[in-house]
Amino acid sequence: MVRNAMPGPELSSTVRLMLNGAPQELTVDNRTTLLDLLRDRLDHTGTKKGCDHGQCGACTVLVDGRRANSCLLLAVAVDGREVTTVEGLEDDEPHPMQAAFLAHDAFQCGYCTPGQICSAIGMLDELAEGWPSAVTTGPVHPDDAEIRERMSGNLCRCAAYPNIVAAIREVAGA
Ligand code: FES
Ligand code: FES
Repeated sequence: MVRNAMPGPELSSTVRLMLNGAPQELTVDNRTTLLDLLRDRLDHTGTKKGCDHGQCGACTVLVDGRRANSCLLLAVAVDGREVTTVEGLEDDEPHPMQAAFLAHDAFQCGYCTPGQICSAIGMLDELAEGWPSAVTTGPVHPDDAEIRERMSGNLCRCAAYPNIVAAIREVAGA
């Protein structure tokens, strides 16, 4: 099979998006996921493919500031939207979440880490806005139970979970 072969015009679309602050415009096969667009067409390989089925969270990115599994999102669905990947988090200095993951040694192989970090950033915004989770019983606080529940869509096969929770707790100021 020829990778990235483009189908006829009836099966392709032009997609315009902001990727990490830079405008992008390209024609894509309508069946292309955002994950494959990022990795195969835009050379943004920081976003990882784990399961390709919405089960591991390795592919998590931020779309208009909200976390999303890019393997479940068609590229055509982000037309006109702002996408942030792990490559877009650093601004001269590492993002505070990246720094906290380093300080707390919150990874081993690192394969899940870009997704964990993007997810954690989106998750803290949800928490700050008061979104309840399955373990919320009153006012929302970034305690360990809330962090674990809200990060449960991001799996780590190296089981770095205690250090991941510690890193997120530090950024949350808890
Ligand atoms: S690669 Fe998207 S959830 Fe696993
Ligand atoms: S650090 Fe290896 S899968 Fe998470």
